[in-house]
This record gives sequence, C-alpha cells and structure tokens, in this order.
Amino acid sequence: MDSNLWLFDYKKGITYEQFSQCEDYNKKIFKFLSSYYNLWNKQILEIGAGSGKFTSFLASMCDQLFVVEKSESLMNINQKKNELLKNIKFILDDIKNLNLPEHSVDYIFAGWSLTSMRNLFECLFPLFQKVLKKDGEMILVENAGNDEFCQVVHIENFTDEMKREYLKMGFKQRAILDTLIKLPNKEVFYNAFEGVDKMQLKSLNIKHKVLILDKKF
Ligand SMILES: C[S@@+](CC[C@H](N)C(=O)[O-])C[C@H]1O[C@@H](n2cnc3c(N)ncnc32)[C@H](O)[C@@H]1O
Repeated sequence: MDSNLWLFDYKKGITYEQFSQCEDYNKKIFKFLSSYYNLWNKQILEIGAGSGKFTSFLASMCDQLFVVEKSESLMNINQKKNELLKNIKFILDDIKNLNLPEHSVDYIFAGWSLTSMRNLFECLFPLFQKVLKKDGEMILVENAGNDEFCQVVHIENFTDEMKREYLKMGFKQRAILDTLIKLPNKEVFYNAFEGVDKMQLKSLNIKHKVLILDKKF
C-alpha cells in the first residue's frame, strides 16, 4: 500500500468531500468529542484536515484553530466552507514542515489522518511534543476495524496492525463508536475508492466502527 496516498487520491478534492459528507450520519463522533474533551477556548492544531470534516466543529468551540493540510484541492474546499470563521489559520503545507511556537497548543487533533502520515512518525512525534503545551493531548479518530467498511475496502488486517501500533506508542483507547456511512448512491463510494470491486457494496448504509484514541505528552 502506498503510504503517501492511502486509500484516496487526495488530489480529487470533490470526490473525497462527497464521501466525507456521508460519514458519521448521526454525528456520534462530534457528540463524543464534545462531551469527553474540554475543547472550549483552547488552542488546537488540526493535522491532515482534508476538506474539513472536523474543522468547523473544532473551530466552533476552540479559541484558535491551526489547520494543516498538504492537498491544495482539499484545502480549497475546507477554506471555502469555513471562510466566515475568523479563528482559523489555514496552513497549506506538509505537516513535517510545521512551524508553530513551542508549547503553544492544548490539543493536536488528527481525524483519519495520522495513519496516512505513518512514514513520517519519527520526525513528527518530536515536533508534536515541541508544539504541545505541558499536559497537552493528542486526539485521534481512526477506523476501529471489525466492521462492514473495513471489509468492503479490504483494510481489516491493516487496521488491526495500526491499532496495535498506536497502543504500543502509548495511545489509550477512549471509545469505539458505532457509526453509519449513509450514501445517496453507490457512485459516491466507488468514486472515492476507485480500486474497490463494485460487487462489494450491498447497501447504501455501511456500518462503520470508529476508534477514538488519545495520548498525553
Ligand atoms: C483520510 S484524509 C482525512 C481528512 C479529514 N481529516 C477527514 O476526516 O475527512 C487524510 C488527510 O491527511 C492529509 N495528509 C496526509 N499526509 C499529510 C502530510 N504529510 N501533511 C499534511 N497533510 C497530510 C491528506 O492530504 C488528507 O487530506
């Protein structure tokens, strides 16, 4: 599997955005994050923010949100969606070039993005440690595996492997949420996952288990 282009061709921003809007139909992830973590008035760094699945949610609570994304087409969509929010600073760059002041953020948030940065872990974790405040925390949203979504896109083993890796790195499992991907039609799915066998998808509702992990630094 290509570690740079994991699952999606991120250059196709619109295709990704259309699929992204179908994820977590019942907003269980937002509900969990806002009840479990105190994001109010905090400084948050969102890495690999994509087209903004979590950006407006985070910005609605925090004081200042730094959004880092390396794909121009995804960043354009994100910026357009959030152009009225004044507390977001958009940084179009590779996360490895992150240049924020030392100990300046309370949380680093990665929504389905840290896994696609796994070829950079060695340089990223010292960087994260540097920008996080003392007692700062990193929050991950990842696939939990053992569900219809991972089966359909053939990432069951890979998902288990990554989960073990995160636990080994000291991340704690906070929740597994039973969410739903609700598609308007099958094309939205097949456009996002071009390599997937078209016979795989049985319904427009896909069960998706979502894993929430965190780690204090
Ligand atoms: C699966 S997408 C998730 C996007 C978004 N957080 C969401 O939940 O919809 C992973 C994102 O990480 C971004 N990404 C991957 N490696 C990156 C890097 N080295 N620097 C910045 N962004 C990166 C990709 O461009 C992509 O937008």
